[in-house]
Amino acid sequence: MGKAEDLAALEQKIAVDDSLPLQEANLVFGEGNPEAEVIFIGEAPGFYEDREGRPFVGRAGQLLDKLIVENGWRREDVYISNIVKRRPPDNRDPFPKEIEAYKPYLAEQIRIIDPKVIAPLGRFSMNYFLPKAKISKDQGKIFLLKNKLVMPIYHPAAALRSSGVMEELRLSFQKLKRAVERYSELIENREQQEKEEETKKEAQSLF
Ligand code: URA
Repeated sequence: MGKAEDLAALEQKIAVDDSLPLQEANLVFGEGNPEAEVIFIGEAPGFYEDREGRPFVGRAGQLLDKLIVENGWRREDVYISNIVKRRPPDNRDPFPKEIEAYKPYLAEQIRIIDPKVIAPLGRFSMNYFLPKAKISKDQGKIFLLKNKLVMPIYHPAAALRSSGVMEELRLSFQKLKRAVERYSELIENREQQEKEEETKKEAQSLF
């Protein structure tokens, strides 16, 4: 089976899993290119996403689309999803047990797509991947997680509330494009660094 079929099968599986919380809301599985090099991950669907069954279609989504196009991409080139796949009531933050319940599905979605870069949108999603990171300090930075680059960026909804955040989000988007283009080099550099650290540790333990 190809990635598109694997994703469709996963969507079917999640749709009928009635052990998952937030059953009263619609499923927003995620959408985009199954071969995407970059995956954007938000927190959970909001009102418009629940209504349409698609991620990031409200005001924040329109800004996300604009930034994607400014990077020379199209929305259908990338993949967009959320940690929790159903809307929490009144858009409250998802509870830890809701995140835990949806976790295997997100992990499988990422495994199937196998992107080069994961871009968590906002603090909440960032802390899912990087529990110790701080959004103002770490957004726009590149982290290595397994064989993937993780670059947390501001949530577009935050940029709609602050022109300073908007400016930083635009800069991070430019950096994101360069990270995707330079993926192999960045991975190699990190692997080289890790090897050197290992060698140093081994040498230190010898004398
Ligand atoms: N905010 C999110 O985090 N996800 C969406 O899908 C929409 C808004």
